[in-house]
Amino acid sequence: MIVDLLKKRCSVRNFKQDKIPQDTIDYIIEAGRLSPSGGNEQPWMFGIVNDKKLINSISIAAYNQKWISSAPLIIVLCTTIVEDERGARDIQVSRFPELKNEILTMNKALYNKLNSEEHQSKIPGTNMVLAALEHGIYSTWVSYFNVNEVSDLLNLPSLYMPSEILVLGYAEGETKVKIKKKKEEIVFVNSYNKIT
Ligand SMILES: Cc1cc2nc3c(=O)[nH]c(=O)nc-3n(C[C@H](O)[C@H](O)[C@H](O)COP(=O)(O)O)c2cc1C
Repeated sequence: MIVDLLKKRCSVRNFKQDKIPQDTIDYIIEAGRLSPSGGNEQPWMFGIVNDKKLINSISIAAYNQKWISSAPLIIVLCTTIVEDERGARDIQVSRFPELKNEILTMNKALYNKLNSEEHQSKIPGTNMVLAALEHGIYSTWVSYFNVNEVSDLLNLPSLYMPSEILVLGYAEGETKVKIKKKKEEIVFVNSYNKIT
């Protein structure tokens, strides 16, 4: 049951050295592959990294988050840089019509960076986190990293950019689930009325 699984989920930053079996990696990737995306475009590529030297280099590119190097597996979620820039700008104008002028005149390089399909990778990533947990594998999201450095380490073609990193492994020591906000704090029905 998904909610039961979510009640166990927490970020883990200390991992056992045990390798993750290939069929489990395949299962995790399958959970990502089957994810929904806008227009079913599936604007992603998943980089499986199990080479310890490369994992260490990625931890350095993640502004020296040393704990990453204890993981036996990293999945780098890569998304496509928007190709149809004109169409993408039109979609953003339809979302934020009051900013039409700013959206249409924004510098192209900056626009493409800010408007990559980055957000879409959160969906396969979330499914992968849950699929991994079904097999007793914990994970932590990492978005604090140097995009260009990670791209170079993975030899990514310019069409793709790394948008998120999932760091995975069996937890070393006890796991600790964090307290989440109560339902009343995060839900409204039909119309927002702040409860004071
Ligand atoms: C999109 C995203 C990016 C994150 N980036 C980092 C990161 O760069 N480094 C890190 O140590 N934790 C990172 N985290 C983990 C969060 O700190 C963690 O999810 C949060 O504190 C809640 O704890 P929990 O996952 O145990 O519920 C990230 C989480 C998310 C969802």
